[in-house]
Amino acid sequence: MSINYSEKIPNNVDLSGNKTLQRALEHWQPGFLNWWSEMGPDESSNIDVYLRTAISVEPKGWAHFDYVKMQDYRWGIFLAPAEPERKINFGEHLGQPAWQEVPGEYRSALRRIIVTQGDTEPASVEQQRHLGLTCPSLYDLRNLFQVNVEEGRHLWAMVYLLHAHFGRDGREEGEALLARRSGDADNPRILTAFNEKTPDWLSFFMFTFITDRDGKYQLAALAESGFDPLSRTCRFMLTEEAHHMFVGESGIARIIQRTCDAMKEHKTEDIAKLRGLGVIDLPTLQKYLNFHYSVTSDLYGSEISSNAASFYANGLKGRFEETKLADDHKLHGSEYPYMEVVANQIVVKHAPALTALNERLRDDWVADVQAGVSRWNRIPEKAGIAFRFTLPHKGFHRRIGLFTEHHISPEGKILSEADWTRQHTDWLPTEEDRAYVCSLMGRVAEHGKFANWIAPPPRGINNQPVDFEYVRFN
Ligand SMILES: [Fe+2]
Ligand SMILES: [Fe+2]
Repeated sequence: MSINYSEKIPNNVDLSGNKTLQRALEHWQPGFLNWWSEMGPDESSNIDVYLRTAISVEPKGWAHFDYVKMQDYRWGIFLAPAEPERKINFGEHLGQPAWQEVPGEYRSALRRIIVTQGDTEPASVEQQRHLGLTCPSLYDLRNLFQVNVEEGRHLWAMVYLLHAHFGRDGREEGEALLARRSGDADNPRILTAFNEKTPDWLSFFMFTFITDRDGKYQLAALAESGFDPLSRTCRFMLTEEAHHMFVGESGIARIIQRTCDAMKEHKTEDIAKLRGLGVIDLPTLQKYLNFHYSVTSDLYGSEISSNAASFYANGLKGRFEETKLADDHKLHGSEYPYMEVVANQIVVKHAPALTALNERLRDDWVADVQAGVSRWNRIPEKAGIAFRFTLPHKGFHRRIGLFTEHHISPEGKILSEADWTRQHTDWLPTEEDRAYVCSLMGRVAEHGKFANWIAPPPRGINNQPVDFEYVRFN
């Protein structure tokens, strides 16, 4: 499964063996490059960045690191190796051979799934496009650009599926993916969280820690799909996604470290004093966590969903680690818990497991986010600081699902409109908080130097030193 870089579009799918498809994708390519130069990272075209590029799809040693000009990055089509005789692992087609072509009756559902996933990829590049101008270090700038080029590649991954398997409709969707814009009033991206701004590096790190992790869970569920090309595409995307979440988790950990160091050095928990020292106080970090967590929670959709049920029953989208789960893989007769407000109380109810699959995937993600938050908490713990980060209640600040009509506090108390209005500024970033965080953002671009509000990482990328010249300006 080596990757052919001698072609216009690098690939491991024998693209030259299908001239019609190759022509269609080569026709789409200039549109993609135009989109990248218009909506990709600001002022990045002429710099050399120490990037990893996929050279194989094998789990060990797939990446090659070298300086690359951003505009010369080789975006391509890489699928994980086919498993011979792979079967459908769940739903009503359980045990049948996986589909190599789209079954006619599932064509529109699969197209929708692929387009929705595909739309998030360029959206995040658009959301993050100004961040390079305020990077806290060359190390961080390199990581941002690595995430950006790989999200661009993820768009390629989805557009390949659309072109290869959905004919004219697929090609039209490919064009539409380049036409929508994050936050645009007339032609926005599909999902709300991908129309929010990512105005500063704290938001970027929270986004990659929390929202890229939603990406991981969506891709993992799609990697189980009975539609084999989708499964293989998602499996390789997941290997790239791990780095995005690392960037987020370690980025926030370094901010916490820096703040804890300042708290100890100056023996203070006072927010105004800490802000005077130019670090981000822990309560403000908690507010950003609350915001990104709740907005990303919505991406999983309603707790109870007939769409989710039919995606599963039809073999299109599985559960997280479906094949490792020990049950009938059809969910006949089983139930799953969810929460709802009944008579002004939050109660746990049970629904047929098939209809509660969004909630289940959300729960898998919550556990993973919680594990990361617990790792963060070791930093204040080690420093002898009492503060601990917590995830808010699932019903907090929700716009989709059963809590939409209610105001829930982070502790899970149902609030009146008046109480919410009075208290929500304690829980979500205020204009003032955001303005403070933005005021810290200034470009640090000398090698080995880091902005005052973030600690250097413990080690560099690909065993390079921390003060390595990760980005060269020409
Ligand atoms: Fe992605
Ligand atoms: Fe990602």
